[in-house]
Amino acid sequence: MFLYFLPLFPLLAAANPIWHAKSSRALVQALEKRDAGFNVSFPISSQASLITPESEDWASASLRWSTWSAPQFDVVFAPATEQDVVTGLEYLTSINASFLAKGGGHGNSLTLASVQNGVMINMEQFDHVVVNPDQTITFGGGARFGALYETAYDAGRELTLGSCACVGATGATLGGGHGRLQGKHGLAVDAVVKVRMALWNGTVVEASASENADLFWGMRGAGHNFGIVLETTVKTWPQENKGMHYNADMTFTTDSLEGVVTTINDLIPSLDASLALDLFFYTDPSTAEPVIFLNIVYGGSKEKGQAFTKRFASTTKPHVKTPITRLVLNETEVSWKDLPYESANGLINVACIDGFAQNIYTASTAYMDVGLTRKVFDDYVAFVKNNPLASNSIVFYEIFGQQAVVNQRDEESSVGNRKYAKVLNLIEAVYSDDSVAAAGDAWARRWRDEWVKPKYSGYKREYVYQNYAHGDEPLEALYGYEPWRLTRLRKLKNQLDPHGFFSAYHSVS
Ligand SMILES: Cc1cc2nc3c(=O)[nH]c(=O)nc-3n(C[C@H](O)[C@H](O)[C@H](O)COP(=O)(O)OP(=O)(O)OC[C@H]3O[C@@H](n4cnc5c(N)ncnc54)[C@H](O)[C@@H]3O)c2cc1C
Ligand SMILES: *[C@@H]1O[C@H](CO)[C@@H](O)[C@H](O)[C@H]1NC(C)=O
Ligand SMILES: *[C@@H]1O[C@H](CO)[C@@H](O)[C@H](O)[C@H]1NC(C)=O
Ligand SMILES: *[C@@H]1O[C@H](CO)[C@@H](O)[C@H](O)[C@H]1NC(C)=O
Ligand SMILES: *[C@@H]1O[C@H](CO)[C@@H](O)[C@H](O)[C@H]1NC(C)=O
Repeated sequence: MFLYFLPLFPLLAAANPIWHAKSSRALVQALEKRDAGFNVSFPISSQASLITPESEDWASASLRWSTWSAPQFDVVFAPATEQDVVTGLEYLTSINASFLAKGGGHGNSLTLASVQNGVMINMEQFDHVVVNPDQTITFGGGARFGALYETAYDAGRELTLGSCACVGATGATLGGGHGRLQGKHGLAVDAVVKVRMALWNGTVVEASASENADLFWGMRGAGHNFGIVLETTVKTWPQENKGMHYNADMTFTTDSLEGVVTTINDLIPSLDASLALDLFFYTDPSTAEPVIFLNIVYGGSKEKGQAFTKRFASTTKPHVKTPITRLVLNETEVSWKDLPYESANGLINVACIDGFAQNIYTASTAYMDVGLTRKVFDDYVAFVKNNPLASNSIVFYEIFGQQAVVNQRDEESSVGNRKYAKVLNLIEAVYSDDSVAAAGDAWARRWRDEWVKPKYSGYKREYVYQNYAHGDEPLEALYGYEPWRLTRLRKLKNQLDPHGFFSAYHSVS
């Protein structure tokens, strides 16, 4: 940690010649400008820090969830105040530096590798979460979902949040924000009432229905494109069932797959708004055997939740076309704030582990094609058998309530394709040894390319949740096929980010 009220980047460089030699292009440029008589000194607060690869804090300060196609940084700037963000942006854009804000560090897309020799603007000190008198919650640009669960729950409130505690609440909300309570409350963006942010030139603006309404529209679905979010204010709702949720964890024999998938498909057309299903294929590290794991979370009473669990019971009737043999059933009642850690027997929380290469392909479908799911499962088993170094790879399917998601007025936010996201399908090649990278990419891409075929997806075109996108999809699959959507987004981008500083994550331009 360093303390400053001083010429900033140049001082650091001058004080550390070794680092200077390795420094990023941006900082070298700054030094050149200083040498040419350009005044690049500026004040930042004493709590702000600049961390370089030589610092003992570098590993933790620069850590991100996935190393696959990751952005590359030469320096981490951790602002502590709004003025620090303003000063940093004014400076970095004045030297045309490459930079990227970090919220939770879970962003994962081919496009992020466009940041090279960059400056990470680590927002971790903007981690406040405050309940306002009108029961809205305001959270800082670096707050993670875990802190929102905690604060909202303790205030007797609930809202749509992502399933994992570790994910950045801002990063996820900028692209939509999909979560178990979405059937009741819509996507996370649907609760946003105000965003406070800094534009590329350091100008701080607020966006809401009544102020900068066009920007407010763009921030809710394509928000990575326009600036750095300082804080976001969201609506909340009174919690139901005293904040207790029903959780059921089940495993099945591998020949039950058709029965399990058929039952999921039977539930989809009228999926209860409070119901969320997660189906996983993973490999048990102790036995190296594949596991079919189903997690059900019901945002209400145990009795109501159990009605769904019963449908996945072992089949006793003879002559059932797709029988089920359930191996494990573990039912618990979990407080909402503990769900990220306890649901799915902790599997959701395991997904938070940082530092693997995670090459993910995803697609949205209307249902789960039974025959294709069998092929995906069998090939998953074969892939892991042939590539034991990728045994942490997984396939999973998220089937969450849809009612409040599709009942929003579609044109009121920049979230595209709302009606085309009944099942989110994810296939993830996970490894730390790059010798399996090519095999993992080919395996995962192959099944994504099948999922998007209309005969399997049930949709005429390709759809993907913006925040899950691999980064190689047509932009319309992320932002919507109505031509006015990308037109409007690009116009906004030209106005608000005319030089394209915020273009590393699914840029609309
Ligand atoms: C384990 C895991 C679980 C997930 N679960 C869910 C889920 O349940 N629901 C869901 O909707 N999504 C989920 N996601 C996807 C998630 O929404 C995206 O990965 C999202 O980009 C993560 O945001 P972050 O802040 O953690 O990541 P970062 O890498 O820090 O940020 C991602 C992008 O957002 C930008 N950004 C972050 N903070 C700010 C800010 N303050 N101002 C401006 N830009 C900012 C970054 O610059 C970057 O472009 C999950 C991802 C992972 C890896
Ligand atoms: C350089 O900037 C600092 C801080 O803004 C200011 O105090 C100083 O007078 C400037 N020097 C020149 C030569 O412009
Ligand atoms: C700024 O940097 C970008 C990306 O590195 C480059 O394409 C662009 O030409 C640069 N602009 C200026 C004015 O130097
Ligand atoms: C059942 O789930 C709870 C909560 O996740 C967990 O603590 C417990 O160990 C599980 N029991 C079994 C038998 O897996
Ligand atoms: C800052 O950038 C915005 C968006 O491009 C622009 O509208 C505004 O006029 C700029 N402010 C200043 C002071 O130049």
